[in-house]
Amino acid sequence: DMGGHDTYMHKEICEQPDAVDRVLRGRIDDRFSTVHLGGLNLDAREARTIRRIKILGCGTSYHAGLIGAGLIESMARIPADAEPASEFRYRNPVVDPDTLYIAVSQSGETYDVLAAVQELKRKGARVLGVVNVVGSAIAREADGGVYVHAGPEVCVVSTKCFTNTVTAFALLALHLGRIRDLSVTDGKRIIEGLRKLPSQIEEILKTEEQIKEIAAEYAGAQSMMFIGRVRGYPVALEASLKLKEISYIHAEAYPASELKHGPLALIEPALPTIAIVPDDDLLEKNRAALEEIKARSGRILAVAHQPQAKADHTIVVPKNEDELDPILMGIPLQLLAYHTALAMGRDIDKPRNLAKSVTVE
Ligand code: F6R
Repeated sequence: DMGGHDTYMHKEICEQPDAVDRVLRGRIDDRFSTVHLGGLNLDAREARTIRRIKILGCGTSYHAGLIGAGLIESMARIPADAEPASEFRYRNPVVDPDTLYIAVSQSGETYDVLAAVQELKRKGARVLGVVNVVGSAIAREADGGVYVHAGPEVCVVSTKCFTNTVTAFALLALHLGRIRDLSVTDGKRIIEGLRKLPSQIEEILKTEEQIKEIAAEYAGAQSMMFIGRVRGYPVALEASLKLKEISYIHAEAYPASELKHGPLALIEPALPTIAIVPDDDLLEKNRAALEEIKARSGRILAVAHQPQAKADHTIVVPKNEDELDPILMGIPLQLLAYHTALAMGRDIDKPRNLAKSVTVE
């Protein structure tokens, strides 16, 4: 049942305020400015001994893991990174007893992720799951974890589950942070930010008409460039994947800082750039990148907290805490991919060559 929407993708994009509300529900502990994660299976003493965190997933779940790693590093100050699960499996990784491994999966059935989890467990590692489907293979195989409670996701491409997974990582980061060095004040600040997310997502969804007009301009482009820096870079990666999957437009994602090391050669009026430009300590750096693109007559769409003078269009999104901004900045770009694909007559819920759950190698 699409509930009055033309596609499941549109329905699932619009469900995000409720979905995020669900991942937060019952977990916030105002007394200690932290969160409770019932299924984690990791007590405070164990949490204090973690020396590294390695996050594994595929596709959109890998991108959510990249943002998750950033959240964990900034709030819990534990070195963390994310890697595609299949790459990890095939490079005979050093499995270290002081590392906590986290497997991320919407379906909980992705073979490459499941196989990585099984190999890690065989070697004695502790593995948590950040999973949507309750009781799925990865959820069962993991030592504990966090359910992301996005609800059933029918569209082949992931939208609401991405947003909920990143939010679940924010909860995990806050939890680990408050066991370690994150102050009560910062814990409160993050909790206030988390509580604002559902209504801020509602606000973003109201920009759909504007996004539809921009998409009409970009439909039919040969290629698009997505750029962001640090927290914004995984948002760019995910937006680029979404556009490719459903519109079949070629897209690249680059850290904005890497432009001058090569991809600037591609910039010309026919290659639009989509730039993630949050109002944070990197704002001036990001603006400088927009200037470089404009100087080469590139067209620019910015996703930002205030209109960007160098951009042809800006989608303005509400500001949250710096750490939580990536959760919001991806949402308008889900709508951009959607409306671009729609304008090109694509089969949005069932893109060619793709399956919802990849249970083979
Ligand atoms: C992207 C997409 C895929 C999946 C990937 C992992 O829109 O749908 O890239 O994210 O196949 O799937 P899960 O999260 O089920 O492990």
